[in-house]
Amino acid sequence: MTKLSIILSSTRQGRQGEKVARWVERVAKTRPEFEVELLDLRDWPLPFYDQAVTPSGLKGMYPYEAVQRWAAKIAASDGFIIVTPEYNHGYPAVLKNALDWLYSEWNRKPAAFVAYSGGQISGARSVEQLRLVSLELQLVPLRFDVLMPSVQNQFSTTGELLDDSWTKRLNGVLNHLTWWAETLKAGRA
Ligand SMILES: Cc1cc2nc3c(=O)[nH]c(=O)nc-3n(C[C@H](O)[C@H](O)[C@H](O)COP(=O)(O)O)c2cc1C
Repeated sequence: MTKLSIILSSTRQGRQGEKVARWVERVAKTRPEFEVELLDLRDWPLPFYDQAVTPSGLKGMYPYEAVQRWAAKIAASDGFIIVTPEYNHGYPAVLKNALDWLYSEWNRKPAAFVAYSGGQISGARSVEQLRLVSLELQLVPLRFDVLMPSVQNQFSTTGELLDDSWTKRLNGVLNHLTWWAETLKAGRA
């Protein structure tokens, strides 16, 4: 089985991101090829990166228990869906910190992006930035993505997605993610 981790990167009170990430989780779980886990960064309160050397220089000797657990979780993953909002034309700082803590654990694994925002731009600028950062981490960023505008209007009060065409789009992204995750897993082996 391909281990797919969905990273929910908004941690603020009243966030919209939880509805988006839960929908991504529900859709991913309909796919037999994936073992799916939602990693909510609220559950991973990592300290800001404060080490004298880069993460690869730490050689796996992470100084905090939370980072050790985060490293183990990412190391065990074969691919990622990063669910991100747009904050000031970028992605949340809490996500950057979670990315920055590790290096080899991300290497040669695919990352797909599901972005959203309160306005019409739909998080596209967050995704463009994340693609650049991904390359430096030796993540393989996918060309196909889900970009959802006006996120506050996309779900019912109980969290059900109102427009099924988004699920079709997400399944298309998952098709590509499956290919990359399986191909890179074989390559790493
Ligand atoms: C700090 C901050 C900055 C924001 N900047 C933008 C922005 O640049 N462009 C945009 O379309 N929406 C922006 N928004 C609106 C968010 O995209 C919208 O509130 C979205 O629901 C945030 O995701 P969240 O609810 O999961 O935290 C911003 C929101 C916050 C809290």
